[in-house]
Amino acid sequence: MTEMQSQHSIIASPIGSRLTALAESDKSRGIKQKFSDDSERVNRFSFDHRDVLYDFSKTHISAELVQCYLDFAEEINFTQRRLSLFAGERINNSENRSVLHALLRDETNQAIEMAAPKAIVEAAQSKAQFIARYDQIQSELAKRSTPVENIIHVGIGGSSLGTQLIFEALKDLGATISVHFVGNIDGHQLVDVLAKCQVDNTLVIGVSKTFTTAETLQNLNSIAAWFSRHGVENPLTNFYGVTAAPQKAVEYGLCEVNTVAFPEWVGGRYSVWSSVSLSAALVIGMHKFEELLAGAASMDQHFYRSDLSENLPFLSAALDHYYTNFLNVKSRAIFAYDFRLRSLVDYLQQLETESNGKDRQRDGAAVDQQTSPVVWGGVGTDVQHSVFQMLHQGTALIPSEFILVKKPDHDLLMHHKELLANGLAQPAALLAGQNYAEVEQRHAHENLSELTKKAKIFSGDRPSTTILIERLSPLSLGALLAFYEHRTFCFGVFANINSYDQMGVELGKRLAKQVKPLLSDGQAQKSADEFDSSTLSVLRRIISD
Ligand code: F6P
Repeated sequence: MTEMQSQHSIIASPIGSRLTALAESDKSRGIKQKFSDDSERVNRFSFDHRDVLYDFSKTHISAELVQCYLDFAEEINFTQRRLSLFAGERINNSENRSVLHALLRDETNQAIEMAAPKAIVEAAQSKAQFIARYDQIQSELAKRSTPVENIIHVGIGGSSLGTQLIFEALKDLGATISVHFVGNIDGHQLVDVLAKCQVDNTLVIGVSKTFTTAETLQNLNSIAAWFSRHGVENPLTNFYGVTAAPQKAVEYGLCEVNTVAFPEWVGGRYSVWSSVSLSAALVIGMHKFEELLAGAASMDQHFYRSDLSENLPFLSAALDHYYTNFLNVKSRAIFAYDFRLRSLVDYLQQLETESNGKDRQRDGAAVDQQTSPVVWGGVGTDVQHSVFQMLHQGTALIPSEFILVKKPDHDLLMHHKELLANGLAQPAALLAGQNYAEVEQRHAHENLSELTKKAKIFSGDRPSTTILIERLSPLSLGALLAFYEHRTFCFGVFANINSYDQMGVELGKRLAKQVKPLLSDGQAQKSADEFDSSTLSVLRRIISD
């Protein structure tokens, strides 16, 4: 199948009818029944990749479901689509770009032997430049009379979320350098960060693929002004810049020797593997960053080489697609039971929703199915005291993912035991539920009212996946993030959408540019034709004295 040939839809196909029938049966049978029907269920639907266990058995996964998606994969020549990704075909067809971030994890190209030779050279060059700038900065830091204690990483979305995640997840607990992430245009964030910094102990790294993003440039301007106010001349010339458009960074005012380029074929939300992660690498060390890449490369190998029937990204995307399109699921929740992964949900939310929140197929036709569910979540155990009520007793079916880490990197073992106990108990409770008879039995001596007894009923049969990581290391984190990337790719293939553009963010940005002058010159009256009356009414309220 060539790029622009339209793909037939799973929804309208005989496979769609099989999945609809399966969903009907799943609605009445439930997950507990699946355990009763198959004593081998846990083994059948649990998989190991390196030191990570993926247990899908508490979801609606079944042999029939997997077979439907394997058949669909056959029909749409899925393996060819996967090859197109790794080989650097321009699968981002609306922008005519390749999607080769996986090349950054293995630029020697041993895993991905079919990638375009030009891209292989570009990957190697960008890695070499990244390492050179890393070494350059490390030696400058070593020479400073006042040690650097703060790095301000200025960037937003894909130019920040991954770097923040790996910084928080992989830094040593006693790290002496703090990285402050400034993305928002809201000045409260920047003012708060600057209050923690001093000009002589602070390094600034501006990160922007395009180097045109309004928030990033304004934040850099304001930081430069802060340096100037504190007596530093030409502060921009001391800032570093990471970008796919080095010329733009230089035009902005950065020195060429302080810029680090990465290739155009690295999408923003897939750029954590590039020099975008410079600020995190400076703290965690290049050796850990290299291990992160190696972990991701091991997942690339798994995704590229393993049979689809045991292919982790393929199976999990099949489940995601089934839930979203056949069981009417609107959202998926991810709960990391490890504080170091507190930014994981934000990262995955951008990865999945910016990639697959689309209403057009690859050939421009309207989609005939649901695409990305809302991805949300948080950190356990905090979430148990906030949103879990809805998870257990709400009316929506919300498949959830529990990410646990077996061995902590601290010695407060009682804390960790409690954390793991909760991380195990919640999925167990979601599955088991509690019926009326059980409520009566458990509360036999409490003289509860009928009302209270009914309020204590849990339906159970609520799906969850457990991902158990032996130890949170660069290797395991790299593999985990690459797992989610490939899962996102697979979902995009099932739904026949382009997962690699993000046109949906453009219109609002354009309108913001039009609104901005109206805020200062009070011309709201004149714009009655350009904006809806509600927007104009709020605007008038803002500019009124
Ligand atoms: O607003 C969407 C977006 O384009 C993201 O996809 C991207 O990660 C972010 O903005 C930042 O863009 P840039 O890296 O060009 O500053």
